[in-house]
Amino acid sequence: MAIETDGPKQVLQEVEKRLAALEIFLAAVCRAGDSALNTWLAQALPGGKRLRPRLLFLCASFGPHDDREAQRAAAGLELVHLASLVHDDILDAAALRRNRPALHRLAGPHAAVLTGDYLFATAFQLLARVRPQVLAEVTAAIRLMCEGEIAEKQRAGRGLRFYYACISKKTASLFASASAGGGHLCGLPAYLIDYLALYGLSLGTAFQLIDDLLDLTADSRRLGKPTRHDLVQGTLTLPVLVFLEHSPRAAGWRSRLERRGLTGEEAAALVTVLAEEGYLAAAREAALAELELARLALAALPARPAREALASLAAQLPALLEVGRIP
Ligand code: IPE
Ligand code: IPE
Ligand code: MG
Ligand code: MG
Repeated sequence: MAIETDGPKQVLQEVEKRLAALEIFLAAVCRAGDSALNTWLAQALPGGKRLRPRLLFLCASFGPHDDREAQRAAAGLELVHLASLVHDDILDAAALRRNRPALHRLAGPHAAVLTGDYLFATAFQLLARVRPQVLAEVTAAIRLMCEGEIAEKQRAGRGLRFYYACISKKTASLFASASAGGGHLCGLPAYLIDYLALYGLSLGTAFQLIDDLLDLTADSRRLGKPTRHDLVQGTLTLPVLVFLEHSPRAAGWRSRLERRGLTGEEAAALVTVLAEEGYLAAAREAALAELELARLALAALPARPAREALASLAAQLPALLEVGRIP
């Protein structure tokens, strides 16, 4: 469908329609022969923000494209993301996801690992019926995602550069593949697809920076997943790393943080220190700087409504994450 001639508002409305249709499609493709598996799939599927399909649909709106191919690509991306969440909650020992018990808590780790694998396979089945460039983007991103998730658990040599490399791999790479994938679907030239990928990379980096900040500051019910969990797991995110590097009060915390995760009480105390010393505000600034980079990447793209729609997605990202759902 050609939607490049509409205004940004029409593009956004069209994307909303596609996202509504995507829900029905996702429910239809996530049907297995086994009834227990069907229950677990139905538990895992609802409640996400569908950001990666949104990104793909928006980027595909730069030109005419095949709706059904875009739907398969968007569903493939969302299922890859969902599989990564199901596995991530096992790795992070997280009890809550999308305000419901994480799948490994409901069904046990054996079932959760296999449901995640099933979701990956379902994604590939869909992506096999999309042009090969999209599959290449997504599989490259999954490889990076695994590298990032492995690196995050590494204790030695963690610093700012290491942190940015981790979040770029584990989260931003899938955002970049969604953006570039949309560009491939509407036949943009390679150099413009690279700018879309850059936009996605910065947006995804900002997204993980905000997610990490919300882990420290948000209310668990509102976020729909555990909070202060990164500190309890011993995962050091940007505000903590900068604090350890620069604060005179860091000495008392360093050995504890490097040896083990914190207790709930210790985590709450550390968040108070981080807030008092301005490290939370600094992390928010870092996220806003990434969003500015995303906006700059858009400058290279043709001045079409899709570009404005992508700019408004970047502008809304902090607010969207805090409410947990896109209105
Ligand atoms: C959560 O992603 C995992 C991260 C990369 C931080 P989302 O916040 O997009 O998860 P859902 O799909 O909306 O639940
Ligand atoms: C994981 O990051 C991102 C993935 C690649 C799944 P997080 O561990 O911070 O994501 P949440 O907070 O559990 O959603
Ligand atoms: Mg996690
Ligand atoms: Mg998190």
